[in-house]
Amino acid sequence: MTKNTASHPLKDYPQTAELKSGTSITLKAMHADDRSAIMGFAKQLPEEDLLFLTIDLTQEDSIDGWLANIKAGSSVSLVAYAEDELVGYATVHKETAPWTRKVGEIRVNIAPKMRSQGLGRLLISHIFDTARNLELTKILARMTSEQKGAQTAFRKLGFVAEALLTDFIVDHKGLSHDLVMMTFDVDGLSDQAGGTVKI
Ligand SMILES: CC(C)(COP(=O)(O)OP(=O)(O)OC[C@H]1O[C@@H](n2cnc3c(N)ncnc32)[C@H](O)[C@@H]1OP(=O)(O)O)[C@@H](O)C(=O)NCCC(=O)NCCS
Repeated sequence: MTKNTASHPLKDYPQTAELKSGTSITLKAMHADDRSAIMGFAKQLPEEDLLFLTIDLTQEDSIDGWLANIKAGSSVSLVAYAEDELVGYATVHKETAPWTRKVGEIRVNIAPKMRSQGLGRLLISHIFDTARNLELTKILARMTSEQKGAQTAFRKLGFVAEALLTDFIVDHKGLSHDLVMMTFDVDGLSDQAGGTVKI
C-alpha cells in the first residue's frame, strides 16, 4: 500500500484497528487500485441497499466518476479491508457552491456480513476527523425514510434529523421515497478533539 503525500487529507493512512470481535481492519485512502474491490463489495449488497445508493456501484463508469472526484479533491474516501477483502467505505463529499462550502456529505456503507460489529462507528469516527481537518463545520447524511437502521446508527452518533423531503427520491424501479436529511455540527466535537467519536 502506498503512503500519501504530505498535503493529502488522508496522509496519516493506512492505519489498522481492531473490532470488538478481534477482526483486524486496515483503513486506507481509496485509490484507483481499489476499483475491482469496490465492484466486488457492491456485488454482495442486497437489492434494497443498491436501490438507495447515490451512485450505481455495480457500474464501472460510476466508480470511475467517484475516483475522478477523489482526484479532484471534492471527495475524500476511506476504504476498510479485512485481510484482502474490502468490507466497507466512508466518504465525505465537499459541497462546491460558495454558500455551502463548509458543508460535507458523508456516505458510509458496510458489507452486510460485517454490520453491527462496530465497523460503521470506526469508519464514521475516522471520516469525522477527516472532515474536521478539511475545516468542514456541518456534516450531512442523507437516507430514505425506510432506512430505519441507518437512522438509528446516525442518531447514536449525535446526528439529528433536520429535514424530511417527501417523494424526493425515485429509485431504480421508478418508485418514490421520502428523503431524510440528518446533520451533525462538527464544531460541537471540538472538545473531543484527539479522541474518538462516541456513538
Ligand atoms: C448504517 C451502517 C453504516 C451502520 O454500520 P454498522 O457497522 O452496522 O454499525 P455499528 O456496528 O458501528 O453500530 C453503530 C451503532 O448503531 C447501531 N445500529 C447499527 N445498525 C443498526 C440497525 N440496523 N438498527 C438499529 N441500530 C443499529 C448499533 O447498535 C450501534 O450502537 P450501539 O453501539 O449503541 O449498540 C450500516 O448498516 C450500513 O452500511 N447500512 C447500509 C448503508 C446505509 O444505510 N448508509 C447510511 C446512509 S449514508
